[in-house]
Amino acid sequence: MRTATKMPKLTIAIDGPAGSGKSSLAKRVAQILGYLYLDSGAMYRALALKALREKIALDNFLTLDELARDTHIELKPPTPEQEAAGSKNCVFLDGKEVTQAIRTAEVAQAASRLATIAGVREILVAEQQRAGGGGGVVMEGRDIGTVVFPRAELKIFLEASPEVRAERRWKEHQEKGETMTLAQVLEEVRERDRRDRERKVSPLVRAADAVLVDNTAMDVEETARLVVMLAREREKELARTAGREA
Ligand code: DC
Repeated sequence: MRTATKMPKLTIAIDGPAGSGKSSLAKRVAQILGYLYLDSGAMYRALALKALREKIALDNFLTLDELARDTHIELKPPTPEQEAAGSKNCVFLDGKEVTQAIRTAEVAQAASRLATIAGVREILVAEQQRAGGGGGVVMEGRDIGTVVFPRAELKIFLEASPEVRAERRWKEHQEKGETMTLAQVLEEVRERDRRDRERKVSPLVRAADAVLVDNTAMDVEETARLVVMLAREREKELARTAGREA
């Protein structure tokens, strides 16, 4: 009698620059596959929010290391209502919800600066590895395929032109009633790109085995279909390998 092969659960790493559509893509792929979705950038943002609130200078590496050690950040799936309103992960900073508070341009810039600190990264990476270590997860960020899960079974490097990325971010700001101009958002995106790609520790680079997806002219559904197809292929390959080894 033939028994149904149980499909293995993958770890999917999605990396890319600001505004490349990682969050929408990762969330949709996780939803289709029934996987856990984790937004690693939210952890850097939550810590940055705490540093801003406590007025810690963002070049005070020692204090920021200490802050990271003394901070508890938790990512939780959104409730169905929050999901319908477009929420990503619900983010808790030392037990208090900061899901909305971390989504400002000021926090984004501070997160990008804080993310250059090796000690801070070490602490947050360990936390990300713990949170996603069980597999069946789609994690998005800048160093997921290179540092957090270098053995991820599927790695995507998502790209889009800076202009399109800035426009996507600008629309998000508009929806929230923020008054940044498109030119200001483009400058913000370019500055973050520069810092994220040029920093010494875990810069944003495409892992050698990552699939490059440029979604400048693709919408979320199209991109998600592509990634889900790649994931199904990887699941089958792994199931075949496991079958041969059994
Ligand atoms: O993905 P995001 O825009 O929410 O991330 C905010 C900042 O956090 C980003 O500019 C760089 C940093 N970050 C990082 O260095 N590594 C990650 N894995 C995720 C985010």
